Amino acid sequence: MKISIIGAGSVRFALQLVGDIAQTEELSKEGTHIYLMDVHEGRLNASYILAKKYVEELNSPIRIVKTENLDEAIEGADFIINTAYPYDPRYHDSGSQRWDEVTKVGEKHGYYRGIDSQELNMVSTYTYVLSSYPDLKLALEIAEKMKKMAPKAYLMQTANPVFEITQAVRRLTGANIVGFCHGVAGVYEVFERLGLDPKEADWQVAGVNHGIWLNRFRYRGKDAYPLLDEWIEKELSKWRPKNPWDIQMSPAAMDMYRFYGMLPIGDTVRNGTWKYHYNLETKKKWFGKFGGIDNEVERPKFHEQLRKARERLIRLAEEVRKNPAVKLSEEFPEIFRKGEMSGEQHVPFINAIANNKRVRLFLNVENQGTFKDFPDDLVMELPVWVDSKGIHREKVEPDLTHRIKIFYLWPRILRMEWNLEAFVSKDRKVLEEILIRDPRTRSYEQVVKVLDEILNLPFNEEIRRYYERF
Ligand code: NAI
Ligand code: MN
Repeated sequence: MKISIIGAGSVRFALQLVGDIAQTEELSKEGTHIYLMDVHEGRLNASYILAKKYVEELNSPIRIVKTENLDEAIEGADFIINTAYPYDPRYHDSGSQRWDEVTKVGEKHGYYRGIDSQELNMVSTYTYVLSSYPDLKLALEIAEKMKKMAPKAYLMQTANPVFEITQAVRRLTGANIVGFCHGVAGVYEVFERLGLDPKEADWQVAGVNHGIWLNRFRYRGKDAYPLLDEWIEKELSKWRPKNPWDIQMSPAAMDMYRFYGMLPIGDTVRNGTWKYHYNLETKKKWFGKFGGIDNEVERPKFHEQLRKARERLIRLAEEVRKNPAVKLSEEFPEIFRKGEMSGEQHVPFINAIANNKRVRLFLNVENQGTFKDFPDDLVMELPVWVDSKGIHREKVEPDLTHRIKIFYLWPRILRMEWNLEAFVSKDRKVLEEILIRDPRTRSYEQVVKVLDEILNLPFNEEIRRYYERF
C-alpha cells in the first residue's frame, strides 16, 4: 500500500493524515508506505522527522518516505492526496503570502478583498488572477503522471479550489479524481447548537463544493426544520461566534435559510452574495464580532498563525532530532491528537476502498444522474457510500429548492466554467469578461488596469506569458 501526500509541508493536513492512517487498524501495518512530497526542503524535512516520530509514538509499523521528486511520489501509488499550495520560492515562502500581495493590488483598484473574492465564491483565498492557474496546472500535471505511472490510483484533491480543479481534471484528463472538503462538518455545529443527538438525526447535504445545503433534516422520524425555526426565534439574537470561522449559526446563515428554504452548510455560509460582504461593518452585522474569516483583520491574522505553526513544527523537528524522548502529543496536541481521528474524510475513504470498511462520506464526484437538473459530468458534492467496489451515490431526497438551483448553484457553476474557459483558452479577454461581470466594476478601464498590474507582478511572470497570446 502506497499513500502519497503532495504538499506534505502543509500544517493543516500531512501530519494529521499520518496520524489517521497510523490509528486505523487495517492500514497501520507492515507494508503501508506513506510518501511525503514537497518542494520546500525545510518543511519536508520537518514533516518527515515528525511523521516518523509520530508513528513511533503511536506504535505503528508503517513506513514514512520523503521525496522532493513528484514522479517518485506518484509511481505505483494507490492513493495520491494533493494538498499543495503552489508559490514561487524566488519571491515567497508560501501560497498565502502570494495571495496577500495579489489581494492588495486588487483592493487598490476597488476590488474589496481582491478580484478573486467573488459573489457566491468568497472562499477564494487560493485563486490568484481568476483562473487558479498555478493550482490547476499542478493538479493537471499530477493527474497526467498518475495516468501513466499509477493508473489504478485515486487522486484525492484537497488543495483549493476543489470545485474547479476536480472538474478540470475530470474533463481534461479523465483521471480518477475525487475532491475532498471538511466543510460538511458544519452539520454537527447545527446539531450541537440545537441540542440534538446526531445519532438520532436523518440528514443529507448536497450541492457543489462550498455550496452545500441541508436538503434533508429529520429528527426522531420527524421534520427537524421547525426546531431550527424555533431556535431562530428564541436564540439567534443571543448567538455569538466562538472564533472567526464559527459562522454556521450566524445571522447570515439564517438569512440565507429564509431566502433559499434550506440551511447552507459549512463554507457555503461564507459564500453568499455581497449583501453580507460589502465591508467589514456589514460582515460584522451578519457574521458576528469577527466579521467571519474573509476580511482585512482576521485573514492576515490567520495567515500569521499558519506561518507561526509552520515555524513551530520546524523547531519541534529540530528538538526531536536532539532529544528523541520529546512527546509530540504533549508538545503540539492540536496536530498530534493521539487517540483521536482528525475528522478529515481522507483516511476513512482509503480504508473503505482498500479494506471494504464501508463508510458514508460527502465527496466531490460527477453528478451522474443524482440531480436531473444538472449535467451528468458536472462535479458536485454529494452524499455517497464508499466500499471496495467504489463510490455509490445516495439518492438525494428531497430535492434542493428551485431558488438554490437558479440563484446559487447555476451562477456558481457558471463562475467555475468561466474560470476553466480562461485556463483552457489562454485568452486574457476571458479574464476581462469575468471581471466586467463583477458588481464592483465601474469601468472597462478599471478592469484593464487591475489585470495589468496583477499580471505584471514579478512572481506572476509565468501567468502573464500564459495569457500573452492575445
Ligand atoms: P501550506 O502552504 O501550509 O502547505 C502547502 C504545501 O504545499 C507547502 O509546504 C508548499 O511548500 C507545498 N507546495 C507548493 N508547491 C508545491 C509543488 N509544486 N509540489 C509539491 N508541494 C508544493 O498550505 P495549507 O494552508 O495547508 O493549504 C493547502 C491547500 O489546502 C490550499 O489550497 C488550501 O486552500 C487547501 N485547503 C483545503 C481544505 C479542504 O477542506 N479541502 C481546508 C483547508 C485548506
Ligand atoms: Mn473546503
